[in-house]
Amino acid sequence: MAKKVTLVYFSSTKTTKKNLLAMAEGMGCPFETVDFTLPASRERDVCFGEGDFVIFGSPVYGGVMPLLVREYLEKHISGNNTPCAIVAVYGNRHFDDCLVEMEDLLTEKGFLVTAAAACLGEHSYTTQIATGRPDESDLAWAKEFGQKLQEKLTGPVQALEKGVIPGNRPYKERKPSAPMAPVNTNGCIHCGNCVRNCPVGAIDAKDPGKADPEKCIKCLSCVRLCPLGSKAFTAEGFQASVAWCLANFKEPRKEPVAFL
Ligand SMILES: Cc1cc2nc3c(=O)[nH]c(=O)nc-3n(C[C@H](O)[C@H](O)[C@H](O)COP(=O)(O)O)c2cc1C
Ligand code: SF4
Ligand code: SF4
Repeated sequence: MAKKVTLVYFSSTKTTKKNLLAMAEGMGCPFETVDFTLPASRERDVCFGEGDFVIFGSPVYGGVMPLLVREYLEKHISGNNTPCAIVAVYGNRHFDDCLVEMEDLLTEKGFLVTAAAACLGEHSYTTQIATGRPDESDLAWAKEFGQKLQEKLTGPVQALEKGVIPGNRPYKERKPSAPMAPVNTNGCIHCGNCVRNCPVGAIDAKDPGKADPEKCIKCLSCVRLCPLGSKAFTAEGFQASVAWCLANFKEPRKEPVAFL
């Protein structure tokens, strides 16, 4: 039984968070969370020891970790032979090299990667891809994965052999995307939801209709949270990406996979 379980994740549209919470439920022991989605939560250092067990969760952006996830883990998280599981959550296209990138980085940071999972989340860009996921069956799967993690911890703790987790090295290149930001299409009641929940502080607190295209990571949190449904990415380039995703990745439904 793990002595202390901590979930460490970035999750702007909450699908990574939902998958990890179901895993913790499956582990059946008390747990803590380090949710580093918002800027204020990315300032402190967090160190883990041998008695800890950590589940790291990251969404897949362009086949790898979002750059800010990589930078946060590099700068603020460390382990000391700490066993962990790594979880990549993707929107029905592919997780590509995200898990191997997590494996390499966390190994460098002092963790023993004992298990990995690629899970599904509704695609941030459109509610029409991986709609409603993680759904009931995904969450039951995640719970079972948590039970398997707990079983693993009853034996000697070992890192997975290199090659068990699929992905390419070098990883997919992070290509700079055209600066873009959402606009307000239907007014604003100044509730501040979008401002408070933007992971990079890109939205103007005084005028939430304005967002900084140089800062925006296109996570779609603000679009999902606006009570008026006012926020949208109207740029042609964004619409073209959504159309491409819809044409290619809506079907077939992909299922979560474990690497143990
Ligand atoms: C900028 C960006 C890039 C993405 N790239 C991929 C991708 O390469 N493959 C994929 O299947 N899903 C991709 N997605 C979808 C997310 O991985 C997916 O929706 C995930 O569930 C979001 O996690 P969150 O809800 O925890 O933020 C991308 C989403 C965004 C915002
Ligand atoms: S402005 Fe950009 S980064 Fe901020 S919540 Fe909206 S989509 Fe995400
Ligand atoms: S969430 Fe919508 S209504 Fe609220 S401040 Fe942002 S744009 Fe305005």
